[in-house]
Amino acid sequence: MSSKKVLVIHGPNLNMLGKREPGIYGKTGLNDINKDLLRLGKKLGLVVDSFQSNHEGAIVDKIQEASQKYEGLIINPAAYTHTSIAIRDALLLFKAPVIEVHLSNIYKREPFRHKSMVADIATATLGGFGHYGYYMALEAMARMLK
Ligand code: DQA
Repeated sequence: MSSKKVLVIHGPNLNMLGKREPGIYGKTGLNDINKDLLRLGKKLGLVVDSFQSNHEGAIVDKIQEASQKYEGLIINPAAYTHTSIAIRDALLLFKAPVIEVHLSNIYKREPFRHKSMVADIATATLGGFGHYGYYMALEAMARMLK
């Protein structure tokens, strides 16, 4: 049986993790998170690919491509969470589980972060666990895909 494939998408400024507001987002860099996801994916029997972009259209393109290639999607749309109808619409085309992840608890922060354009269409949402949230999401995804 071939391994199921999961794509992890990181939105704008997440390439700066480790340097960016470490009190909120933690000290772990994106490369380390992606390496951990790859390793954990192997243990769970999943192939994990990661993608980061600071550009809304590039994220939309990637989600559209993902529909053909991946059985599950984990996404932290970062600031686009709060603004992007285009990312929401692209996610609606993805007919497999989608888990929305945030490092911080967006509901404990400024009011403009309380609205997520994707929360009501995601299969599940997870936030406030720092980078562990990505690993929790991958474990949950493995169960969903069994
Ligand atoms: C974030 C929360 C967003 O409000 C913010 O714009 C981000 C990161 C998080 O992971 O906590 O860039 O998605």
